[in-house]
Amino acid sequence: MIKHLRSAADLDAATATLILDTAAEMAALSGREVKKLPALRGRTVVNLFYEDSTRTRISFEAAAKRLSADVINFSAKGSSVSKGESLKDTALTLQAMGADAVVIRHSASGAPHRLAGWVDGSVVNAGDGTHEHPTQALLDAYTMRSRLGRLDGLRVAIVGDVLHSRVARSNVLLLTTLGAQVTVVGPPTLIPLDVAAALSSRTRVSYDLDAVLPDSDVVMMLRVQTERMQDSYFPSAREYSRRYGLDMPRMKKLPEHAIVMHPGPMNRGMEIAPEVADSPRSTIVEQVANGVSVRMAVLYLLLGGK
Ligand code: ASP
Ligand code: CP
Repeated sequence: MIKHLRSAADLDAATATLILDTAAEMAALSGREVKKLPALRGRTVVNLFYEDSTRTRISFEAAAKRLSADVINFSAKGSSVSKGESLKDTALTLQAMGADAVVIRHSASGAPHRLAGWVDGSVVNAGDGTHEHPTQALLDAYTMRSRLGRLDGLRVAIVGDVLHSRVARSNVLLLTTLGAQVTVVGPPTLIPLDVAAALSSRTRVSYDLDAVLPDSDVVMMLRVQTERMQDSYFPSAREYSRRYGLDMPRMKKLPEHAIVMHPGPMNRGMEIAPEVADSPRSTIVEQVANGVSVRMAVLYLLLGGK
């Protein structure tokens, strides 16, 4: 088993499949009255969050607690980071407190790689800048597999703000490792040529959502990440929505069995219409629930739980 999960590229098909299969066993546990396993008793998991999060932070905490680990939640806001303490010194402080695993979210791409050089425990990337979010990709793959029964040969469209999306990058890596056919779709400003070229060895690129939908088993809508935009990438929110938003008429272009995904948080009414987000085809709430099982599997396997 690998020691760290910094990138979806750390996972070969066998390791990724082992995580998904272990997550399915963990999910069976959540149906029980007593949801706890003693697997990580006596181990310490630190959640080190330098960027805001709802789903990822809470689900890593729930996952570690269900495995009986001790959990320390650290958020940069309210810590000595405001006094200028560096990531390295913060990491060494956590190390001194005996962290067996550090789950990190940071605005700097590559922060988990640096951290892995400073701490003895396992490092799990919970989202670094615009780079990667590997456990999101795992929970997305888990959701697709449980809804549609397979990943091999599945046609997945990833739509929207690809440029700023760590979710898209990790999904492209993981899904293609597992045999899916991925098409990234969005305006040329949000999939510029260099990004398209970097992705093209593994995926197709399209600027036409309406043309891609009829041939998709899965459509994954991405949030428009205005907080990471220094320039203007499209004329207006309305224009973006008109070309790349998923509304009801557009959803009808999907095959009958196709599912609609979104990692959250959503800009309802922009990249996804509220009726689509709340429709039976949407797996958005399921993705969150699956996130706990997948993160339990990741912590269990990385820490060699018993
Ligand atoms: N929550 C995901 C992330 O942190 C996606 C998003 O924010 O749009 O990358
Ligand atoms: N999907 C996701 O990572 O959500 P949060 O930013 O709320 O953790």
